[in-house]
Amino acid sequence: MKLLIATGNRHKFMEISAILKSTRLVVISLRELGEVPPVVEDGVTFEANAIKKAVTLARFSGLWTLADDSGLEVEALGGEPGVWSARYAGEPSNDAANNDKLLLKMTGVVDRRARFRCAIALADPRGTARTVSGACEGTLRDQPRGEGGFGYDPLFVPCGQALTFAEIPSAIKNGLSHRALALTLAVHEWGGLFGSEPECWPD
Ligand code: IMP
Repeated sequence: MKLLIATGNRHKFMEISAILKSTRLVVISLRELGEVPPVVEDGVTFEANAIKKAVTLARFSGLWTLADDSGLEVEALGGEPGVWSARYAGEPSNDAANNDKLLLKMTGVVDRRARFRCAIALADPRGTARTVSGACEGTLRDQPRGEGGFGYDPLFVPCGQALTFAEIPSAIKNGLSHRALALTLAVHEWGGLFGSEPECWPD
């Protein structure tokens, strides 16, 4: 079964493809479609944004489509930056500026707890969608560390690890990230679907 991965983020596409390798899915990137309609991410939840992306691109492409929406929630900031993670320091999205803004807000803050959250939506070509979600708990460093990953990875140390997501090998991040947990759940919940070519949702 062909599955369109509705993200323009190369890192996310690679993470999602790596995690879905164990399935029989043939993953297709947005790049293979050429020009696609823009999707304004104006939902107030990760789920709403993921559904909007998946449904828009599934209707446009005629393909089963998987979209994710994810971000960082910082305990001491009441859940900020949340759904605004990509645009925290304004448009256009800039990872270094977002990290600088977050570090400034966290200056002197003792409670460094944070979590990455990810909602995954799967839509059929008619635009029917369902979601699963995953979270990865951790803490924030007071300086960026590491060259790998993207976004807030250089600041985030997942629970049980001593290094940031930008320092640990991508294979390890792919085993414990919010996206990995949500995708694992997706494969578990929708496994029958991923192994066949259904006309409608499985029971
Ligand atoms: P989205 O593309 O609208 O889902 O925005 C996600 C934003 O949240 C990204 O631009 C990053 O700033 C942040 N984010 C989501 N997942 C991760 C991750 O795995 N590592 C680092 N930052 C992430």
